[in-house]
Amino acid sequence: MIKPHGADALKPLLVTDANERARLVAEAEKLPSLTLNSAAAANAVMLGGGYFTPLAGYMNVADAMSVATAMRTVDGLFWPVPVLNLAQNVDAIRGAKRIALRDPNVEGLPVIAIMDVDAIEEFTAEQIETITREVYGTLDPKHPGVAVFQGLGKYCVSGPIRVLNLSYFETDFPETFRTAVEIREEIGARGWEKVVAFQTRNPMHLAHEELCRMAQERLGADGIVVHMLLGQLKAGDIPADVRDACIRKMVDVYFPENTVMVNGYGFDMLYAGPREAVLHAVFRQNMGATHLIVGRDHAGVGSYYGPFDAQTIFDTLPADALDIEIFAADHTAWSKKLGKVVMMREAPDHAPEDFVMLSGTRVREMLEQGIAPPVEFSRPEVAEILMEYYQAEKKKSAA
Ligand code: ADX
Repeated sequence: MIKPHGADALKPLLVTDANERARLVAEAEKLPSLTLNSAAAANAVMLGGGYFTPLAGYMNVADAMSVATAMRTVDGLFWPVPVLNLAQNVDAIRGAKRIALRDPNVEGLPVIAIMDVDAIEEFTAEQIETITREVYGTLDPKHPGVAVFQGLGKYCVSGPIRVLNLSYFETDFPETFRTAVEIREEIGARGWEKVVAFQTRNPMHLAHEELCRMAQERLGADGIVVHMLLGQLKAGDIPADVRDACIRKMVDVYFPENTVMVNGYGFDMLYAGPREAVLHAVFRQNMGATHLIVGRDHAGVGSYYGPFDAQTIFDTLPADALDIEIFAADHTAWSKKLGKVVMMREAPDHAPEDFVMLSGTRVREMLEQGIAPPVEFSRPEVAEILMEYYQAEKKKSAA
């Protein structure tokens, strides 16, 4: 099986021994505490589940700057996006060596992790700007990832953590949320060697389904892990439970049994395009995938990135950076001439009107009006779930 990133074995920071956990939970109640922002809580969940192996906790300023500008920690570990615990106010934890971190996404702000504080530093405005530019490729405050990142605060609370729970993901998505440890185990149990991962934050339409099929066939992969993001998204994106239902339905009806695992991970979307694609590759290697599909505008938003920037960034990485490889895919769409989904560059004789293409806005309008998109675009079973969701939303906003 493919090795985890930068380590021989996964390093999940979740405390699984019940006695030790109980001891730490009791200790946490007596410690000074910091309520995390959602981004830092998501980092704790990823660290807890082993997805961010081999990191031991949150980065300090020196590592963050080095990762942002050179994609390496100070010690030389390849890493594409700073893993930070930023705070706006550290009055309650100043001088503390050991603190409790509270989860902002769960009622009652329960403790999600205990941290040994290495340092509490302050980022300068210039440093925040450098990280933003390097990671997101823009300083535009209208970029949803930039808007979130620049509002997190200037204090950098760094150090190793022990994770006590995985936030709301296990209870809200019991069938779908899995740690890297669990996915790696399941891949092993299935005896899969070559495994292709599909990152998504959307319900899957026919072009996505076929993209997975093409990747599996062309790579000769044993199986596919559809690995959906279950964390926070920008307004207007489709909620995780709806996407989960669409994807499960599509896999049940249209893929042979035991060829696809449908799983998800608890991380907030960054919309950082190329850099996020590299982070996606790191944690898919950790969960045991040998390949990650990177298609058009992977992890992108608006027109901040070129459609294939998230593929070309992999050509610039040092050879020893990662073991996982990408399956770089061109834009896929239904060809009216050939009667199937194709990669557009593989149909050079086609004119734009030879493809069935619908804008996201148009699809949404149709679904809101209860009109199913054409079967060349969306599976009817998927369209039905989406129509129900959009119509309920419309009713809610009219009320
Ligand atoms: S993402 O932000 O999670 O990347 P999305 O769920 O839309 O967004 O895409 C999942 C994956 O499918 C990404 O690798 C993306 O590049 C790819 N993809 C989505 N639509 C297409 C398409 N029509 N053609 C090629 N690749 C696509």
